[in-house]
Amino acid sequence: MRRIVILISGRGSNMEAIIRAAKNEKWPAQIVAVISNRADASGLDYAAAQGISAIVVPHKDYPTREAFDAALQERIDAFSPDVVVLAGFMRVLTTPFVAHYAGRMLNIHPSLLPSFTGLATHRQALAAGVKVHGATVHFVTADLDHGPVVVQAVVPVLADDSEATLAARVLEQEHVIYPRAVRAFVEGRLSLVDGAVHLIPDQVEPSLQAPAQ
Ligand code: GRF
Repeated sequence: MRRIVILISGRGSNMEAIIRAAKNEKWPAQIVAVISNRADASGLDYAAAQGISAIVVPHKDYPTREAFDAALQERIDAFSPDVVVLAGFMRVLTTPFVAHYAGRMLNIHPSLLPSFTGLATHRQALAAGVKVHGATVHFVTADLDHGPVVVQAVVPVLADDSEATLAARVLEQEHVIYPRAVRAFVEGRLSLVDGAVHLIPDQVEPSLQAPAQ
């Protein structure tokens, strides 16, 4: 069984989608811990209710980013994870932390990278007047919101969209592509080789590399 540690900061709907898919689809993997940098992250309750270790490592308890990342790394590594999944984890990570998990840390960003990095991606998309928007699962590198792309989902931007309606349309697709990507990793079908993504599509779901329908 592969071991998955998920990091969250808030609601945790992507975390929930991954936990559900792992159980329902009987992945050869176990979510061994969910760790949040905030005690009020509502996703912790869901994880705990599923019998998963739900842990808080408050970033405010540490004087520097480096000290927090070192403490976080220690807590994560105590669970010997094969993969670390960032699911709405709202922290900029230090280079040593990222290097430590090179090739085994995934993130989801709510835009079609490399467009609209950072925060308020849906507002950015509306302001730019783009006709399509979406979400990206990528391997984490030291470059914030960059890193080799694993899968993207595309959604239309509609004339009457608000930030909220667009965000909801994107989030629905996040819940499709993120579990698929993590599943591919734990099934040994997804890896990073010399900075390039290697992905063997699922026999049943060959659409992994295509925009979600
Ligand atoms: C998602 O939109 C994710 O792409 C972004 O933050 C949001 C987290 O939502 N990184 P949730 O906590 O998974 O519900």
